[in-house]
Amino acid sequence: MAEYEPGNVLVTGGAGFIGANFVRFWRRRYPENRLVVLDALTYAGNRSSLADLEGREHFHFVHGDIRDQSLVEELLRRHELRTIVHFAAESHVDRSIAGPDAFISTNIQGTHSLLKAARQVWLEETGAGSHRFHHVSTDEVYGSLGPADPGFSEATAYAPNSPYSASKAASDHLVRAYHHTFGLAVTTSNCSNNYGPYQFPEKLIPLMLINVLEGRPLPVYGDGLNVRDWLHVDDHNRAIELVLRKGRVGDTYNIGGNSERTNLDIVRLLCRLMDERFAGNPTLGERFAGAPGARGLPSDELIAFVSDRPGHDRRYAVDAGKISGELGYRPRESFDTGIDKTIDWYLANEAWWRAVMDGSYQDWVRHHYGRGVD
Ligand code: NAD
Ligand code: TYD
Repeated sequence: MAEYEPGNVLVTGGAGFIGANFVRFWRRRYPENRLVVLDALTYAGNRSSLADLEGREHFHFVHGDIRDQSLVEELLRRHELRTIVHFAAESHVDRSIAGPDAFISTNIQGTHSLLKAARQVWLEETGAGSHRFHHVSTDEVYGSLGPADPGFSEATAYAPNSPYSASKAASDHLVRAYHHTFGLAVTTSNCSNNYGPYQFPEKLIPLMLINVLEGRPLPVYGDGLNVRDWLHVDDHNRAIELVLRKGRVGDTYNIGGNSERTNLDIVRLLCRLMDERFAGNPTLGERFAGAPGARGLPSDELIAFVSDRPGHDRRYAVDAGKISGELGYRPRESFDTGIDKTIDWYLANEAWWRAVMDGSYQDWVRHHYGRGVD
């Protein structure tokens, strides 16, 4: 089967964590193709994550909303875009518990708005030429696993448990329906927890890293024994390219990192790796005077068990057999190599994370993590 040539690409949510890494990856892979980023720059979107690309040939940043259908149609026409890689979303489970409405609006209505724009321009106006709508989704749509259950496969029934995962599940169904009913050429990928550079410090790994550096408590929810499968963002983006180029239209592909860990194991490992870095590099103690490592103390003294997240899914694990067998996907990073690189990135990019942690975010963290410290 001939591979799909993605041509000019619209990346939604390209100023967010995975999107910003994808944009960099894609620019290296396809420097001659036009790449348009559409991002509403919510608290999670940071133009600084793409600063070095601004003004470059074939790169365009558009500050706008995926719910603005006429804007999206205009971009598809003007830039002759025939591929959409759709990352834009509200993505944090805790926020979906505190306020689900934004998740319904962006993740469900926003995805529907994008689908309508793609259908209008690619099917109604251009006449079903070569095009692709790739939807980036999550393994959380499958719900929670018991300790001995096999990982989620593409055949696992959807059973989302949080407003976030329910909104992603709804968007997955809409993408599927636009293929089945209208013939839009779609693919969907459902991946496990990503980590790596440019991740907003509300998610487990960057939050814990920065709290260690600042000497703040490390809030572990419940007993800390919930399990996630960790996927390095570069492996995720390579997998998306495989799905785009070689995936079957209308199909979904699960992407995993083959790295199941409990949250407590992750936090303890991060503490140990940070202790080693402080011990081996005295300038770190000068830069981060509030960190336990600056005083030769172990970082894990900061671990604080806090009350559990409501409805907290116990375990996620991904069976990546389909994408490995059919498309040849293999993660390149082990958790050990990936986490080392990620720590180095956060240490080398203090200015980035300080800039993104603005006043409103700090207020939110104080409000949110002020609860239930035992
Ligand atoms: P993120 O929260 O870091 O970034 C989301 C981006 O979308 C931000 O730049 C934000 O400004 C933008 N955005 C939000 N609402 C928008 C709107 N209405 N219009 C335009 N832009 C808007 O998210 P992420 O972690 O990079 O996740 C990207 C995608 O991958 C999401 O769809 C998420 O559900 C999915 N996913 C993420 C993970 C993970 O571990 N991070 C795992 C599985 C799936
Ligand atoms: P998170 O990074 O929010 O991703 P998700 O909820 O999408 O899996 O959380 C990863 C795991 O870490 C999850 O089981 C919740 C837990 N967690 C904590 O224990 N403490 C925290 O401060 C955060 C943010 C998460």
